[in-house]
Amino acid sequence: MLLNIEDYRRRTRAVLPRFVHDYIEGSADDGHCMRRNAGDLSGIELTPRVLRDTTRVDTSVEVFGRKWALPLGIAPTGLNGLVRPEGDRLLAAAAGEAGIPFSLSTASNMRLEDVRAAAPGGMQWMQLYVMHREMASQIVERARKDGYQALVLTVDVPVSGNRELDLRNGFRMPFRPTPRLAWDLVSHPRWSLRMAPRGAPDFANLTPSGSGAGSTSMQAALLARAMDQSLVWESLAWLRGMWKGPLLLKGVLHPDDARMALDHGIDGLIVSNHGGRQNDASPSAISALPRVANAVAGRIPVFMDGGIRRGGDIAKALALGAMAVFVGRPTLYGLAVGGQQGAAAVLKILADELVRNMTLLGATTVRDLPARRLAATLQAA
Ligand code: FNR
Repeated sequence: MLLNIEDYRRRTRAVLPRFVHDYIEGSADDGHCMRRNAGDLSGIELTPRVLRDTTRVDTSVEVFGRKWALPLGIAPTGLNGLVRPEGDRLLAAAAGEAGIPFSLSTASNMRLEDVRAAAPGGMQWMQLYVMHREMASQIVERARKDGYQALVLTVDVPVSGNRELDLRNGFRMPFRPTPRLAWDLVSHPRWSLRMAPRGAPDFANLTPSGSGAGSTSMQAALLARAMDQSLVWESLAWLRGMWKGPLLLKGVLHPDDARMALDHGIDGLIVSNHGGRQNDASPSAISALPRVANAVAGRIPVFMDGGIRRGGDIAKALALGAMAVFVGRPTLYGLAVGGQQGAAAVLKILADELVRNMTLLGATTVRDLPARRLAATLQAA
């Protein structure tokens, strides 16, 4: 029976080839940071208030002038097409139906225009990796033209984290079949048949647009798939020149960086350690959240992701200062198990759990949640 996100996680192992499963589940180095995300969330206490009228519980939030049905969005994850063909389109549609935003990764294997067309009325955010400035400018311009509502610059990947499961499985981009991967595919005929007509996955949005194949330096950057490590705070003016809408930084954990973001006119922060896939020594996202929220002091919205697996986890993050949270792996489990319906089922589980938890806490709106935190289980700086 698929009652909760953990049930979906376990089922994922049976339906995906090992290399895809491990790519999703993997973390950096020894997985300390990923485990901290879950462990620290489990240590948060929220104390109920009783005898409140909870016949109506409102989970909605307003973010950048748009109403979200839940304080929840889908985080950007690359290569979703490995989980299901056109995975991004299916996730965007599931998010659209649930009335919440979907974030598309730069490392998607679908073109951003095709994903947007799947849920034209929905809320979609574009995540940006800067590998090459010219390439990034093209993505930003295309996202602007196509009606993406916010731009999310991910700042915790100057280099990719050390994902040893991927190394052991021989999984890397550009995708090159190895005997080990071939065996993996043969042992998952259903998955392989579904994928076969599509060919090897690639980063669809990084192919230079327009005439010609882009500059030589752009081609070199694409081939190396390396980040532009010269990106600094001053570079944000370059992005701001191209993008007038909400500009967010994803991967901020230090309160001083939160202050720097305010100084540089950033519109929102996503407190995140990339689901434990980058720096294994990073604090859990939930423990960094109150420090960042204090530094920002309500001037811009603060979001959080990492380890959210229950509606109760959403309530905890909101109680500690998040306006909303994002999930990465949970909706990928849903996508793996049941395509768009599977992702929708995962979102419904989280929504139902959140309503139940808010009811139990005597909180009829998300604004009531901070007052349910009495025990200072995590120290705010
Ligand atoms: C990610 N994440 C990520 N983040 C980003 O900004 N761009 C990306 O392309 C990716 N790719 C990616 C792939 C996979 C398979 C995972 C699991 C994660 C990080 C993601 O946006 C988010 O920060 C974490 O997934 C949140 O943690 P949970 O919800 O997975 O615990």
